[in-house]
Amino acid sequence: MKKISVLFVCLGNICRSPAAEAIFINLLEKKGLTDSFCVDSAGTGHWHIGKKADSRMRIAAERRDINILSRARQITTQDFQQFNYILAMDDSNFRNIQNLKNRSSSTDYASIKKIQNFRSFFNEEEVPDPYFGGDEGFDHVLDILEDSVSGFLESIS
Ligand code: 4NP
Repeated sequence: MKKISVLFVCLGNICRSPAAEAIFINLLEKKGLTDSFCVDSAGTGHWHIGKKADSRMRIAAERRDINILSRARQITTQDFQQFNYILAMDDSNFRNIQNLKNRSSSTDYASIKKIQNFRSFFNEEEVPDPYFGGDEGFDHVLDILEDSVSGFLESIS
């Protein structure tokens, strides 16, 4: 059976989208669904390509027994053919992904959505960028993502 492929996207691919990826992988493991999915993350920007996720995010996630193992990469037009779902963290990411898609020649496009469309318990319509803030911002991002990522899985189950 063909796997369902999901790409989480933020700006730098070192804070929010690697956290979303790791939370989703963790959730799939708990539900015995790992083999049915292919999961990745990417950034719209190029500045952090090849880097591990921000240590503040890795530490905050480890406190919840979630390991963030990904290395940053930049989204490419090929991702529109390779992924069923591309999930943006905020409005700016969403617009940048749409702009990239509009410059791509293929018509076989992924479904592009904001992850916060799937939220249940939090009011935030965007996942706030924690990069320039304090440590509590990383925990807040994880709280928000645990909610919306599980909402996303329910929406496609
Ligand atoms: P992310 O956070 O998009 O959640 O990975 C950021 C990481 C780095 C920068 C901005 C946001 N930066 O400006 O370098």
